[in-house]
Order: sequence, then C-alpha cells, then structure tokens
Amino acid sequence: MDDKPVAYRASLLHFTDDPAWNDNAFQWHEDGLLIVRGGRVQAAGDYHQLVSDLVPHAKVIDCRGKLIVPGFIDTHIHYPQTDIIASPSSGLLPWLDDHTFPGERAFADPAHAAKVATFFLDELLRCGTTTAMVYCTVHPESAHAFFEESDARNLRMIAGKALMDRNCPSYLRDTAEGGILESERLLKKWHGHRRQMYAITPRFAASSTDTQLRLAGELAQAHPDVFVQTHVAENRDEVAWIKELFPDARSYLDVYDRVGLMRPRAMYAHCIWLDDHDRKRMADTRSAAAICPTSNLFLGSGLFDFASADAARMPLTLATDVGGGTSFSMLRTMNELYKVARMGGVHLPAMRMFYLATLGGARGLQLEGTIGNFASGAEADFIVLDPHSTPLLTRRTAQAGSLEELLFAFAMLGDDRAVAAAYAAGCLVHARDAASLTKSEAPGNH
Ligand code: GUN
Ligand code: ZN
Repeated sequence: MDDKPVAYRASLLHFTDDPAWNDNAFQWHEDGLLIVRGGRVQAAGDYHQLVSDLVPHAKVIDCRGKLIVPGFIDTHIHYPQTDIIASPSSGLLPWLDDHTFPGERAFADPAHAAKVATFFLDELLRCGTTTAMVYCTVHPESAHAFFEESDARNLRMIAGKALMDRNCPSYLRDTAEGGILESERLLKKWHGHRRQMYAITPRFAASSTDTQLRLAGELAQAHPDVFVQTHVAENRDEVAWIKELFPDARSYLDVYDRVGLMRPRAMYAHCIWLDDHDRKRMADTRSAAAICPTSNLFLGSGLFDFASADAARMPLTLATDVGGGTSFSMLRTMNELYKVARMGGVHLPAMRMFYLATLGGARGLQLEGTIGNFASGAEADFIVLDPHSTPLLTRRTAQAGSLEELLFAFAMLGDDRAVAAAYAAGCLVHARDAASLTKSEAPGNH
C-alpha cells in the first residue's frame, strides 16, 4: 500500500463518548482535515491547525461543503436475505417459514452465495456501512463466500454460519456437534484473517437444541475474542414458544445466559420483550443490544423500550436486520429509530443516533480504537455525506441553525443518495458519482 499521507478537507464529526451521558462526547471541525496514512487515521482536526503538519506536496482531497463521519456500523444483518427483503407477512414466525427459510436454501451453492455477497457488500457500501455483523446461512459455504468477498475488498466485517439443529426445514438443519465443528473450522480460518472476524451464531434459541446451545457456549469460552450473535425477545409468539421449549429458564435471555453466551462481544438482536432483570444482565455482562427499528415495525414485532434500556445502561447499537428490516441505509434506520423512541416518550437527539451508528456500534463490539471514530491509529473507515444530495435535503440543511439540526435533517431525510463516498482502510470503496472522480480515486485503484 502507498504509505504517503492523503488528507481530506471537509467538515468532520466523530465521537469520543456517548452524548447521552457526556456533554463533551464529540469532536466537530467545521473546516476540518482528516489525514490518513497506511490505511489508518494519522490525525483529525481543524484544517488550519493540521495543514502545516502535512509533508510538502501531500495530496489533499477537497470535500468542502460535505461532512466526513466514521463509516456506519450495522450490528445485525442477514446477507442471505438480500433477495427476500420486502416480503410481507403476519409476523416473525410465518415470515421465517414462508420467505426466509426457503430463500436461504440456495446458499448451499457457493456460486450463488458469492453472487449475493457481492451485491450485498456493494449495497452496504452505497449506504455508507463499512462494518457489519452478518448472519450467513447454516451452510459453511455461505460463510466462506462472504468472507472471501469481504476480504477481497479489505473490509472489516464480522460474520458467522448459523447454527440450527431443530425447528427448521431439514434442508437447513445441521447437528449439534457437526454445526459446532463447522463453526470451529470457520473461526480458525477467518477470525483475525486480515480484517475478517468470526461470530458464533446460534440463530435463535428455538432453532437450537439445548445441547447445541451448550456447545456454542463452550466454543465461545474457548475463544474469548470471538464474537457471539443471536436473536432474543423479538416477538410475543416467539417468546411464548421459547417458554414452552425451555420451561426451566427464568426468561428467554436466561436460555443464553445459563450456557455462557452472555459476555463482551455478544450481540443480541431486538431485545424488545426483556424485563428489568434481563436488562441488568445485559449491562452487567457487557452484552450489547442491536436495535432494529425498521424490522420491528415491518414485522409488527414491537417497540424497543429506550427509556428502560438507558435506565439499565445497556450497551446499545443500531442495526438494519435486512431482510426483516426494510432498508440497508443506517440513515433510514435512524429515521425509524427516532419514531420508535418517540412512541416511548423519548426524544433521541440526532447526535445520539449518529453515535449509535458509529462509536456506539464499535463499543458494543469491543472494537473501540479499531473502528468507529477518528482516534489516531484507528482504521481509516469513513464516509463523505453530501447535504446537497436531494433538493429537499439541500433546502432543509440550508436552514439548519446548529450541528444537531443538520444531523437531524440527514437522519430524517437522508438515504443512500446522501453518501457521496465510502473509504475502507483509507481506500475508496464506493463513489456515488464515479465520473466526478480522478483516476487515482476510482474504487479498486489501490
Ligand atoms: N429470528 C430467527 N431468525 C430470524 C431472522 O432471520 N430474522 C429475524 N428478524 N428474526 C429471526
Ligand atoms: Zn435478524
């Protein structure tokens, strides 16, 4: 890689803490400079303070009029559901049976998996998401295909093969021991391979036997730096079913807790139907919640209780949950997050939503310092947001009287069109208007 620094001049925003609890949680430089060297952040600050640090003739890319923020982090998404997004259903369980499981069948074929992974990563990058925590199907081939495509682009991605040994079609079923062995093989190959990371992925408690969950917990304990991801307390019918399947558990979350699956680097999607005891366990074990508002509204699952989650100080992150979720865009996801919180009587400032989509995700994944902000030495994953991407956004942002108002307009009115460019480890990986770029800036030329 070219080791000469490249600097980007734009407005810069990134977080150093959660603005809910700290009034000095962000750094904002209206005329800012982000200096990138060797794929990492060398410095971020005011243009006029930093420009003198640049070596003579250093390349400065002029993005004035735009806003640079860290790449979005989507902590829960299913790449094999790309083609069944927008499939209506009366609720989670029929949606799984009628759309999701049949759609996942084709991922036994590595060629199909590779094609979908390519489209999926293109779509994430178009939306400004540079890191995602991703479900593959039960087939190890689907995980290999995903990691190969992600690695080829040098993206920092987390993924895992779904574990599911019951309550699903036979064509998607592994065995308790077989699924764990496959997971172990995958994590040995991919976890820590360049920027790829592995997540042990029991799909949800209903589709794993107690034995498989126990073995997943043992595998997690043998690999403390590996991730864990699953679903919990998403839908009322699902919660009732879990109670039947695990009559001795105190709660749905307790099914995972008692096998050692709650810990730092564990990501729990949805967390809607938790009680305060569960919320305290999430906080005490530093397990993180992936809040999935577009999915929860689309499937009619329920409204995430922001006030109770904050009262318990649960680690919170934001996620699309495509294909239950209806958009790859974290800006669109903020839009619906805001309304879900509003329904619970909570006003979520845009600052908090941008935190959740960047440093909050990194913290939930225990990846602060690696991704999520512009700390010196962090990997240079960032996006360029364009306030002039639509006529309405242009008009509304022109009237923004504060940074909060500007960000709120992006959160309510923005989508993939607002993302002018995305960079991963300092390399351009998406450009909305490819024609406007110089040759050396074209994606892939690095
Ligand atoms: N619960 C178990 N599997 C799934 C899934 O694929 N999507 C969602 N939203 N919930 C689930
Ligand atoms: Zn999901």
